[in-house]
Amino acid sequence: MAHSLPSKTFFFVPATLALVTTLSILFYIFTTSTLFISHPHKHKLHLKQPYVSFQPSPLTPNPPLNGFKNGSFLLSEKSPPNAFGGGGNEDGTVSQLSSRSHFGPKGSSVSNIDVFHDGDVFLEDYREMNRSFKIYVYPHRRNDPFAHVFLPVDFEPGGNYASESYFKKALMKSHFVTKDPRKADLFFLPFSIARLRHDHRVGTGGIPSFIRDYISNISREYPYWNRSGGADHFYVACHSIGRSAMEKAAQVKLNAIQIVCSSSYFVSRYFPHKDASIPQVWPRTGDPPDIATCKRNKLAFFAGSVNSPVREKLLESWRNDSVIFAHHGRLKTPYADELLGSKFCLHVKGFEVNTARIADSLYYGCVPIIIANYYDLPFADVLNWKSFSIAVVTVDIPSLKKILQQITSDEYSALQRNVLKVRKHFQWHVPPTDFDAFFMVMYELWLRRSSIRISNG
Ligand SMILES: *[C@@H]1O[C@H](CO)[C@@H](O)[C@H](O)[C@H]1NC(C)=O
Ligand SMILES: *[C@@H]1O[C@H](CO)[C@@H](O)[C@H](O)[C@H]1NC(C)=O
Ligand SMILES: *[C@@H]1O[C@H](CO)[C@@H](O)[C@H](O)[C@H]1NC(C)=O
Ligand SMILES: *[C@@H]1O[C@H](CO)[C@@H](O)[C@H](O)[C@H]1NC(C)=O
Ligand SMILES: *[C@@H]1O[C@H](CO)[C@@H](O)[C@H](O)[C@H]1NC(C)=O
Repeated sequence: MAHSLPSKTFFFVPATLALVTTLSILFYIFTTSTLFISHPHKHKLHLKQPYVSFQPSPLTPNPPLNGFKNGSFLLSEKSPPNAFGGGGNEDGTVSQLSSRSHFGPKGSSVSNIDVFHDGDVFLEDYREMNRSFKIYVYPHRRNDPFAHVFLPVDFEPGGNYASESYFKKALMKSHFVTKDPRKADLFFLPFSIARLRHDHRVGTGGIPSFIRDYISNISREYPYWNRSGGADHFYVACHSIGRSAMEKAAQVKLNAIQIVCSSSYFVSRYFPHKDASIPQVWPRTGDPPDIATCKRNKLAFFAGSVNSPVREKLLESWRNDSVIFAHHGRLKTPYADELLGSKFCLHVKGFEVNTARIADSLYYGCVPIIIANYYDLPFADVLNWKSFSIAVVTVDIPSLKKILQQITSDEYSALQRNVLKVRKHFQWHVPPTDFDAFFMVMYELWLRRSSIRISNG
């Protein structure tokens, strides 16, 4: 017993010292590490819900949710009443944003569906993104013989793959770019797949080696690639060869964020959890047409080359139909007339899941029918595609007419009103304008930013 007191003291002092030291270290880590800072994905709402075929069902009106009744969330802060487009009444209330209750698996009625999974969370996050998001764009050497591959194009982008060029042009004119890599949330790899493809020194076959060399160069010249293995880097490509372009640069494919038009999660090179879809948009200048006056006499419309089994099946079923107009090849009438003269416009998988047809339909106020299994639809994290489009799985092509005829005129009007609300998200502008395709892509990137760095470069 006499020995017990000194021996207790003997252990007590170092034990206390150890405890104090441990607590200090923990406190130091807590105050300096980003590990404890709120996780950027905590607001991420809808992780890619599978979106399959439309289930016609009896119309059951959804009661408006209380918080949404008067649309007051839109009127807070400085946002203009029509920030989300189309839905605002004269007094600034937004009647169409009145219900979120359709999210049950039954998804009964489209009549009162909001175009956003959660509009107020999106708006709050968007503002934060707009305020704080920073991108570092890797520069190129002054005399780089491939400078044109890294610079934004000096003309108005056109054609099927314009989205790639528009993104870079808009980014370089935006307030997101920082010259200080320490402030950057993400790093942009500014190579253009479209320009490499047309550069005879590289060509389609040479792109994978070019990208491998490029990544090797920036990982030697800068510390940022190695510290994350490329996880906080991204590139943008609209042509589908963009995916195979990463064949010799495995880290780009596996770690970096790929923003691509051909966002099929059936192919092994695209990972919907880290990558994101950018809409393919055939650019049109001027304001969208006034769709209020047009008469939509046809039920549904498709025209295009028959280059896939899905399109073959469509033609096989509907080639001679009187209300579903499925046309092989070029039209004799103007394309716009068909988009304005049909209630539904068909987007049908060709070589790839994506085409410009979805953006075409939205522009002309036609409700898109999406027949492209495994298409990771653009902005699906934010937009509720069920509110403005209908997905039909390939096996249901023979029932297409029945599916479309079961949609009541009220449901159709709701779908079309929502088409008009979302179409601004499928348009590009230079310089970019709030909520356009550029800002939506930035938002998708923001959801994917990472706060964890291996070391402080
Ligand atoms: C509008 O909605 C807010 C939030 O739910 C509520 O506090 C407010 O009383 C409502 N105003 C009117 C006029 O209904
Ligand atoms: C986004 O930022 C730009 C530039 O600071 C500003 O003009 C615009 O109003 C902002 N948009 C929103 C919705 O906060
Ligand atoms: C990589 O760096 C080398 C040496 O500076 C240069 O010759 C080459 O063009 C660069 N390649 C790419 C794709 O940037
Ligand atoms: C990054 O890693 C590569 C491959 O291990 C190495 O060659 C390169 O020097 C590293 N870069 C830096 C900046 O340390
Ligand atoms: C459509 O019409 C063509 C020629 O008139 C005919 O050969 C074909 O069998 C018809 N197809 C269908 C699905 O009825």
